[in-house]
Formats: sequence, C-alpha cells, structure tokens
Amino acid sequence: MNSFQFQNPVKIIFGEGKIASISRLLAPGTKVMMTYGGGSIKRNGIYKQVTDALSQCTIIEFGGIEANPDYDTLMRAISLGKSEKIDFILAVGGGSIIDGTKFIAAGINYDGDPWEFVAGKAKVPAALPFGTVLTLPATGSEMNCGAVISRRATQEKYPFNNPEGFPQFSVLDPTAVYSLPQRQVANGIIDTFIHTTEQYLTTAGSPKVMDRFAEGVLRTLIDIAPRILAEGDRKYADCADFMMAATMGLNGFLAMGVDEDWATHMIGHELTALHGLDHGVTLAIVWEGTMHVMRREKEAKLLQYAREVWGISCGETDEIIDKAMHHLQPI
Ligand code: NZQ
Ligand code: ZN
Repeated sequence: MNSFQFQNPVKIIFGEGKIASISRLLAPGTKVMMTYGGGSIKRNGIYKQVTDALSQCTIIEFGGIEANPDYDTLMRAISLGKSEKIDFILAVGGGSIIDGTKFIAAGINYDGDPWEFVAGKAKVPAALPFGTVLTLPATGSEMNCGAVISRRATQEKYPFNNPEGFPQFSVLDPTAVYSLPQRQVANGIIDTFIHTTEQYLTTAGSPKVMDRFAEGVLRTLIDIAPRILAEGDRKYADCADFMMAATMGLNGFLAMGVDEDWATHMIGHELTALHGLDHGVTLAIVWEGTMHVMRREKEAKLLQYAREVWGISCGETDEIIDKAMHHLQPI
C-alpha cells in the first residue's frame, strides 16, 4: 500500500427534495451567482427548486455554460461576478457547470489571465466559496477539487486541481436523473466506470480494501446500467446508486494507497479538444485500445478484474482478458 494523505471537506446532502435545504446553508442577503447550462433545469423543475431555496438571497444568474465549458464563456462570468461583487456561487448542473464554476471561483480572485493556472503556468488561487446542485452523475466534480476547461479558439482542453477550491456543499438529489436523456446516462455510466478503472486497473498488490470498493462500484454500474439507460421509468433506488457510485468514483476515496493511470482520460481530452466529442464518448472509444497496449503491464490486474467483476476465471490468460474486454462492448 502506498503512503497517502486524504482530506475531503465537501458536505454532501443526499436525497429527494434536499435542494430546499440550501436555504439553511446561506445567510439571508448573500449575493449568489447561480451558474447553469442550456436550460434543462428550467424544464425539469430544478431551477424553481433552487430559486425557491435562494428566496432570501440576491440571485445573479449566469446561464448558457456549454458542455465542455469554454474559457471565453467563463471569462464573461468572471467579469459579471467581479462587477456584481458576488459573495458565493451556486453551480446547478453536471460536470461542465461545476468545473466552469471552479474556474470562475478561482478566476474571480486572480488578477492575471486565469488560463495561466489552467495551463500550469501559475498557482491556482484560493477560490470564492461555492456550492453545487448536481444534475448529472458522472464526473465526481461535486466532491473533488479538479476541473477540466476547454478553449475552443485554440482547440485545447486541460485539467487543473485546486486544493483550495473544493465545493463547500453539494446537493445530490437522485430524482435529477429522471430527466436525463439516454445519451447522458450512458456518458455518466462510462465516465464513472473509467474513473474507477483508472484507479484500479493499474498494478497488482493494491490495498485489498480499495480493490473491493472499486470492484463494488464497477459491479453496481453493471447491475443498474440496463435499467437506468431506458428513458421514462427509472427507479429511485437505481438513480440513487448511480449518483452515489459517480460521486464515490472520483472524490479521492478510491485513490487512497493505490497506483493510478489516467492515460485513457488524457487521450480522451485531446479527442474532445480536436473533435468536440462528449467526454464519456471519448472514454468509450479509447479505453479498450489503452488496455490492449498495456495488456502485459496490467496483466495481473486485468485477470483480477475479469474474475472479480465479471466472474470469468476459466481459460488461458489472454482468453480470460479478451472475454472480460468483450463484456464492455457497446450494446
Ligand atoms: O446544458 P443543459 O441544458 O443543462 O443540459 C446538459 C448538457 O447538455 C444535460 N443535463 C445535465 N443534467 C441534466 C441534463 N439534461 C436533462 N436532465 C438533467 N438532469 O447534459 C448535458 C451534458 O452536461 P455536462 O455537464 O457537460 O456533462 P458531464 O457531467 O458529463 O460533464 C462533462 C465535463 O466534465 C469534465 C469533462 O471533461 C467535461 O468537460 N470532467 C470533469 C472531471 C472533474 N471535475 O473531476 C472529471 C471527469 O473525468 C471529466 O473530465
Ligand atoms: Zn472522466
């Protein structure tokens, strides 16, 4: 087991109807910038729940943050936030909105061009306080301090980390999953799956307790995927498992004491930067090839994955790995 430090300060508020509890987390009169995307929250009722919960606060809205949040859009939000002298930001959306908000929250406190800290040329400043309402389980951004920012003008997409930029709280209401299109559920499942494998399918000899947690996340996704992919009749328990799996997949927990390998993600970010593909789609394209190239280095762990996640243990080594890989083919 590798040595490690772990700290995660995010307050998680989980359950149906919990958006209302935001009213108790922010002092009356707080000037809140509410960030969101292209309008799904207005159609599924989440916008109303959030504005009701913020009725004692002053709301400055910044909508229109796109999937794979763009530097130019976020710079406009920073400019608005500075001129309005906001106290707090509330991100309402998926990973793109939450990541964009992390950039805004740090950028507001930065005198230079915030791209400098995305490009790794400057230290990321302490962020303005912010919270999140998660509407799409996938990235884990609601409980981590990372963000991925795109810059379409230069075809770039890079992650940055800000240990002084965790959300103060995140509200996780699984009923948000009910309105997700099948494409976004598929993206969320594959993203969570690959976050887990990037921290699990690395080297043999990881802490057993971490192996069991990671295998638990993967097996949960395999169990619920066929049911939640279908639009229209999703069950609360499945949506709750999906949301919890996504958050646990990338909140730092699975990384304790283990080796990590984020190659699939790094290649995927380049595909999005160059071709505009959804993040989850890039992972689905790249993962099997990465495992093929790394097959010998990862052999022991791939055999463990086949046995513990898919129940495959009979046959020659390559045959077992091939069968396990085949199970993750698109349906
Ligand atoms: O914009 P709206 O209209 O809200 O629609 C969104 C968007 O079009 C829609 N959506 C979200 N919640 C919905 C909903 N539609 C109906 N009902 C709901 N409840 O879904 C679309 C995609 O949203 P987006 O936020 O882009 O998706 P996702 O959560 O997959 O985020 C992807 C971004 O996160 C980054 C990715 O690179 C990408 O930029 N990641 C962030 C990570 C992190 N911070 O730790 C790690 C990840 O590996 C990932 O790289
Ligand atoms: Zn991801």
